[in-house]
Amino acid sequence: MVLLDGKKLSVKVKNELSKKAENLKSQGIEPCLAVILVGDDEASKTYVNSKAKACEACGIKSLVYKLEASTSQNELLALINTLNYDDSVDGILVQLPLPSHINKNLILENISALKDVDGFHPNNVGYLNLGFENGFLPCTPFGIMRLLNEYNINLEGLDTVVIGASNIVGKPMSALLLNAGASVSICHIKTKDLKMYTKNADLIVVAAGCPDLLKADMVKDGVIVVDVGINRVDGKIVGDVDFENVSKKASFITPVPGGVGPMTIAILLENTIKSAQNRLKVKK
Ligand code: GUN
Repeated sequence: MVLLDGKKLSVKVKNELSKKAENLKSQGIEPCLAVILVGDDEASKTYVNSKAKACEACGIKSLVYKLEASTSQNELLALINTLNYDDSVDGILVQLPLPSHINKNLILENISALKDVDGFHPNNVGYLNLGFENGFLPCTPFGIMRLLNEYNINLEGLDTVVIGASNIVGKPMSALLLNAGASVSICHIKTKDLKMYTKNADLIVVAAGCPDLLKADMVKDGVIVVDVGINRVDGKIVGDVDFENVSKKASFITPVPGGVGPMTIAILLENTIKSAQNRLKVKK
């Protein structure tokens, strides 16, 4: 069994990005990511702080907007509009989930697709599903693709199962796997018999937010397992996979923590640098 070490790869990616940030600065462009947090969800606060910290460590400026839970939809739209037109801002990220009085889809489609470093704008989702190379790819699924590529895992013709059909992970993950030549089954909370899909799969991506969802009797020997789950159980962070037992059958598996999580942040920084590079091209 080989551990898919996202921590190690993320350090490599971030080192390369630091050099690119330096290079951009020497040409008068300071890469900049604006992060907006509405409300005081504890997990979201932690994610936003780690994103800002990772930016600074790579030489990317971060602007963090911490807004009251009572912020109106129009106030949030006004801030996004200001940032859309601010030439010194390369990326805009609105941390999800949003309070229930705010229409998430309306917010996401009002972020300029050219600054949508999360890859959630309908234009970027369309590019991904059409297999176009332009546009921004969502950070977690693209981070997973980079991790699989780092370990020379060829996806062509593999039977793959994605558990979870969210817009953030499951759906874009399925599109990327399909574009890479894999056959893809998308399972979700209403799937009747999950094991029927997983037991023959060559590769399984689990993003369901449910500890111990994937057990050893549900997988075949040699399976490749990617665990996107981040769950707190008895004060400990665990994924969605029964790691102790599934790892005995797996050929490759991601640890939690240290697998997918660090790659998500690395790709967010990479998307921000890509946007800053686009700004440089326009300037020239
Ligand atoms: N909430 C959970 N994951 C994400 C993410 O990748 N981006 C944003 N904006 N919010 C999230």
